[in-house]
Amino acid sequence: MTEKDQMKKRVGEYAATFIQPNTAIGIGTGSTAYWMILALGAKVREGFTITAVPTSKATVELAQAHGIPLATLNDVDRLALTIDGADEVDPKLQLIKGGGGAHLQEKMVAAASDRMIVIADEQKLVDRLGKFPLPIEVIPFGWKQVQRRVAALGCPTSEIRQRDGRPFITDHGNYILDAHFGSIADPPALGIALHEIPGVVEHGLFIGLATTVLVGRADGTVDELHRPG
Ligand code: A5P
Repeated sequence: MTEKDQMKKRVGEYAATFIQPNTAIGIGTGSTAYWMILALGAKVREGFTITAVPTSKATVELAQAHGIPLATLNDVDRLALTIDGADEVDPKLQLIKGGGGAHLQEKMVAAASDRMIVIADEQKLVDRLGKFPLPIEVIPFGWKQVQRRVAALGCPTSEIRQRDGRPFITDHGNYILDAHFGSIADPPALGIALHEIPGVVEHGLFIGLATTVLVGRADGTVDELHRPG
């Protein structure tokens, strides 16, 4: 296992210790959330009672394979907690998510949660968001119009994500436009502007959602960052 994978495993397993029994939680998507889900599955096998709302089809399959009881977002009023990964984390705990293309459901689940714990290795920490291309889920119809409007917001380079030589299709049948902003000066303002564009389903800026970030460090420790103010 690479050092990066070890960091992901450590932080994912540590995050599972924050889950309280007899609660409803959101479970994230990606290679860091993978370890949290495995750890939660082990707890369930020992008799731990939990209901989990998954954030993607991939997470449904993984959670089912590990015997975790599932519900949909429509089955619950609120979730006590969501634990999910991220692609970038800034000092205000603003995030870029969607590297796996699941940020639409991830954001809906996080927004329905009292707390969001983000699990990340230290390489995800940045001073300013935007080096990681911002994933924007778009309706396939007329996506080039969206691309033009994104360019007008200061992002001349963007492309439709590909997989096996074809557009990547999200769990909800849409495309992902990866937008290379480079550096995002005002993430909340950009998030609002993106929602003004017809054809944008959801973007990967998570503003005011993460309450805690658990950071896996190369030296084997896990740091806890809390949202300021
Ligand atoms: C999925 O769409 C993403 O938001 C992931 O949560 C994010 O890409 C982090 O994934 P890794 O833990 O695999 O880096």
